[in-house]
Amino acid sequence: MINSDKVQEILYGGDYNPEQWDEQTRKEDMKLLKKAGINILTLNVFSWARLQPEEDTYDFSDLDRIVELVSENGFKICMATGTAAHPAWMAKKYPEILRTEISGIRRKFGGRHNSCPTSPVFRKFSAGLASKLAEHYRDRKNIVAWHVSNEYSGRCYCENCEKAFRSWLKEKYGSIGELNRAWNTAFWGHTFYDFDEIVLPDLRSEHFYQTDAPNGIFQQERSTYPSITLDHYRFSSDCLLANYRDEAEAIRRFIPDAKITTNLMGDITDLDYGKWGKYLDFISWDNYPQYGDEPARVAMRHDLMRGVGGGKPFALMEQTPSVSNWHTYAALKRPGQMRSVSYQAVAHGADTVMFFQMRQSLAECEKLHSAVISHAGTADTRIYRECKELGKELSGLKDVLLHAETPARAALLFDWDNWWAAGMTAGLNGGMAYPEEVYAYYEAFYAYGIPVDVIPCDAELSGYEIVAAPMLYMVKPGMAARLEDFTKKGGTLICSVYTGLANENDNITRKGYPGELRKLLGIWTEEFDSLPPEDQNSFVFEGREYPASLCFAISHPEGAKVLASYEKDFYAGTPVVTRNTFGKGRAYYVGTRSSRGFYHALIKKLAVSAGLLSKKAGELPEGVELAVRENRNGRFVFLINHGGEEVSLKDLGSGLPFPKKLPPYGVSLIRVSGKDKERLIKK
Ligand code: GLA
Ligand code: ZN
Repeated sequence: MINSDKVQEILYGGDYNPEQWDEQTRKEDMKLLKKAGINILTLNVFSWARLQPEEDTYDFSDLDRIVELVSENGFKICMATGTAAHPAWMAKKYPEILRTEISGIRRKFGGRHNSCPTSPVFRKFSAGLASKLAEHYRDRKNIVAWHVSNEYSGRCYCENCEKAFRSWLKEKYGSIGELNRAWNTAFWGHTFYDFDEIVLPDLRSEHFYQTDAPNGIFQQERSTYPSITLDHYRFSSDCLLANYRDEAEAIRRFIPDAKITTNLMGDITDLDYGKWGKYLDFISWDNYPQYGDEPARVAMRHDLMRGVGGGKPFALMEQTPSVSNWHTYAALKRPGQMRSVSYQAVAHGADTVMFFQMRQSLAECEKLHSAVISHAGTADTRIYRECKELGKELSGLKDVLLHAETPARAALLFDWDNWWAAGMTAGLNGGMAYPEEVYAYYEAFYAYGIPVDVIPCDAELSGYEIVAAPMLYMVKPGMAARLEDFTKKGGTLICSVYTGLANENDNITRKGYPGELRKLLGIWTEEFDSLPPEDQNSFVFEGREYPASLCFAISHPEGAKVLASYEKDFYAGTPVVTRNTFGKGRAYYVGTRSSRGFYHALIKKLAVSAGLLSKKAGELPEGVELAVRENRNGRFVFLINHGGEEVSLKDLGSGLPFPKKLPPYGVSLIRVSGKDKERLIKK
């Protein structure tokens, strides 16, 4: 985590781009930012062109001035390496650094995140810049973190990447025979005789646009060879990770104890963050919910980001003080909402609250994105005042809250391989997106305020009472044994529809679904029906009827107890919810997508019997979130009203001294330490 030895405060600040401003404005900014309680500035995110005006010339003079100015004003620095957008001269001189799109079009200079990750020229220059920066600023004690590139994402389909893909495959499979076996290349006569015959799966090869959706405008890019595309996704994630590691190693050569990160983006599909998390010194991420996103969804992203970092506190590297102008509906954050979402991040493990950005740009595509200092350049704005109030409040929490962890005894597995593989498998219900299925379960834990870790598939399971592995379509080597072990020792496992279909190469199991999990779940699924959302089935669970929709596993019990069966269609009477006793534990299977009511009932039942929830506990009031962190100073219980209306907390029954009401976007924080219960935040 960032706040270890050197930093003993909640870091509060964000991206500052003084290269866009004259000296006078920079000076005014210093005053305004200090007054707002800002204590850290992220510098240099997009300054490569200025730092390296030509191949052999580095010019750090302006950055030196900026570093000097912010340092003498007492700010800490998060130093970016500036490599997320290459200079124009570099693109002109070395066109190989330009990315090629999936259509095969090689891009020209422009935009950002525009470099080919395997280009030796790009790798040399980006690591070179990181190295120069680290060497130049190695003695600056107020640089508390290094921020490599920015929001890595995307894939490149150029010739260099094609060659690199072949080498990656050679390394992975050893021989062409092994690759042919893994990719099942007998299908459609794809047998390869040489690695050089392999081309990238793009719109010129394995991919095509499918345009036959009912509304006629829906266009989806699909792969005819998912095993190849799956490896290509893994490879592409690895290539960008290699770029990150190039720069991180360059920094570490000069500053061995540097705290290095890059800003992740939550539940984005491009990168396997489960793997990336292992290479970052601390996790940082950018939270930009869309207008109308449920607070539970944002909470899940925080928990996922904490989960890929092994559960440690993380940094909220960016959020907007108000408007995200990229969104279709560029909604303002309502008065108090910036504070409530900041506390939501803190409640889920952030020790750092940062914004994009400090001063609003005057031109180009982000000119209407909000900032702490708006176009008017004054302290007399609602946004500024709200930022200032929050800064003051957070500085008061530093002594107690820092380093607190989340005491979760329930976990949800989240796996990018599963997301990719299930997402590209034709024949699964098109309405069953992997993150949505994970969210269906997450939201139920959230509704009761049960802390949950959202963790990669290879994470340790032994500390949990309940593990949910929704839509575990792909069962990778060792996974079944780990889930069996967890259950055998007394754990409660929940699996859901489309589980156990494929192996790590996306080849379907011949053992009958759910494949390697058949014994653990005590069922055999013979078929899956898949219907449009309006064609629903139903089942009765614990005396209540719930809907079944989208996908319908048609299963036979093989030792599992049937808890609910379908009520309609030709599979009426076959099991949809089952429970198998396995060693000291129990493995549940839910063979369909149901309603919130069902997931709430199921999770409540399991959480009560696992001792994670009292039997009397009800759901939290609509829009209210409860989250917990713990450190040696005690247990911190956050209660957040995400709605624009006041809520009554009369029936909360938490036994904690929460106020009777929470105002719109209100937050309350109680510290419990031994017998003491203290209200740290009041409104
Ligand atoms: C991302 C980027 C920033 C900025 C913001 C705007 O998070 O990292 O550079 O573009 O979006 O929302
Ligand atoms: Zn490339």
